[in-house]
Amino acid sequence: MTTTVKTKHRAMWASGDYPAVASDLVAPLGPALVQAAGIGPGQKVLDVGAGTGNAAIPAARTGATVTASDLTPELLAVGEKNSHVNLTWTEADAEDLPFETGAFDTVISCIGVMFAPFHTAAAAELLRVCRPGGTIGLANWTPEGFIGQMFATMKPYAAPPPPGAQPPPLWGDPAHLASLFGDGVTDVSVERRTLHVEHFRTAVDFRDYFKANYGPTIAVYRNIADDPARVATLDAELLALVERHDLGGGAMNWEYLLYIARRAG
Ligand SMILES: C[S@@+](CC[C@H](N)C(=O)[O-])C[C@H]1O[C@@H](n2cnc3c(N)ncnc32)[C@H](O)[C@@H]1O
Repeated sequence: MTTTVKTKHRAMWASGDYPAVASDLVAPLGPALVQAAGIGPGQKVLDVGAGTGNAAIPAARTGATVTASDLTPELLAVGEKNSHVNLTWTEADAEDLPFETGAFDTVISCIGVMFAPFHTAAAAELLRVCRPGGTIGLANWTPEGFIGQMFATMKPYAAPPPPGAQPPPLWGDPAHLASLFGDGVTDVSVERRTLHVEHFRTAVDFRDYFKANYGPTIAVYRNIADDPARVATLDAELLALVERHDLGGGAMNWEYLLYIARRAG
């Protein structure tokens, strides 16, 4: 069953054009996380859910020794082709990382690990592969922010999640992270930040871009494809969501949580 879930998730993230989403929209998040996590020369760094290397590539540019890991080999391949810097690209499930205990000085994930469905397992793996005294750094969409609200809007139209799966935006809730990491971390710092997005002129531009390019949105629309009434309702709900967040001229602020902690021990 788990294998089926992973196969589906891999196919979902390979669908559309996530590399475009990474470069058009979320590119500033990677360098922001690298800086907040204090990544620099000589460190051994793991990026989990690295995609095309939005955080892994700027981490490698600091002189760190970086492994970019992800469930979706198609995204790693794009990253590797465009990286122009030396790093290792490895297919890996965040819930079962193929690395030694304590192998990394710093473990980061930029809107990546939050999409692994079994949060407790994924958090335990982040802790396991980080050496005692090392750093865990995460950037996660918050439940209240625009992308968290987009997932809440899409949820009623999505295929039912596997039993025991938890929703991705919970990783943007500091209390949820406290319960996941427990006393496995110390010196926790949590900051709400916003990604300013000016890519879309209109709500329709946004919706059509996400329907064409963003795997989770594509999957939800595929799930309701044989029900035109539901497609129309979701279309309208997404437009209303964007209009509520429009700061004028299509500009939006997308809230995320920046979480930095020291691995206890
Ligand atoms: C929103 S993208 C973020 C990619 C990249 N970190 C960035 O900032 O652009 C989410 C990534 O998480 C990966 N992912 C989803 N589930 C995963 C899992 N169980 N293990 C590892 N990676 C996973 C996807 O393949 C995708 O690359």
